[in-house]
Amino acid sequence: MAKVAVIYYSATGNVYSLARAVEEGANEAGAEVRFRKVRELAPEEAIKSNQGWHDHFMETQDVPEAELEDLEWADAYVFGTPTRFGNVAAQLKQFLDTTGGLWFEGKLADKVVGGFTSAQNPHGGQESTLLSMYNVFMHWGAVIVPTGYTSEEIFAAGGNPYGASSTEEPSEEELAAARYQGRRIAEKAAALAGSRV
Ligand SMILES: Cc1cc2nc3c(=O)[nH]c(=O)nc-3n(C[C@H](O)[C@H](O)[C@H](O)COP(=O)(O)O)c2cc1C
Repeated sequence: MAKVAVIYYSATGNVYSLARAVEEGANEAGAEVRFRKVRELAPEEAIKSNQGWHDHFMETQDVPEAELEDLEWADAYVFGTPTRFGNVAAQLKQFLDTTGGLWFEGKLADKVVGGFTSAQNPHGGQESTLLSMYNVFMHWGAVIVPTGYTSEEIFAAGGNPYGASSTEEPSEEELAAARYQGRRIAEKAAALAGSRV
């Protein structure tokens, strides 16, 4: 059974919905899943100035925060971030930037990884955000498993082969693609773990 960590940042809930769908998919594939948000770094005044952000912040207080130990524990990771000017949100990047020690010890290498994102516009930078995130994974020596065009669900959701993505609040098709990504990552992680010498 693969151990999958779903780790995300979401301000207003769109990436959170995708993350829950990824979690469902990994569960469907029989994985043991840890569902984790990264720490919010924005000042309270900024959060309070946006009702949707504040509501989501309060509604997800019970979601545990990601720890480095989650990365050591997992066979596979799926990271989610909103698109921020075509890039990864600072909150998730900050968590990724704390992984230097694990990287130095080689503990992040050879693990399956993928990413998912949400943006406001259909061409608002979903792909560049995932590619930016994947730079980190290449430095880790992780095994990036993109969604590719490996399932009908990807075509139905708009055809992003880099990872599941949505335009604002995820549609049913976008959620189905995220579930597929969760299943795919869990299946590939189980296969890779079984082949380790
Ligand atoms: C600072 C900032 C930068 C953003 N940059 C982009 C962008 O480059 N392209 C885009 O389409 N949407 C952009 N957005 C919109 C978010 O990516 C979008 O609303 C996303 O669905 C939010 O996900 P969340 O609800 O999980 O926070 C930006 C939002 C903020 C606050």
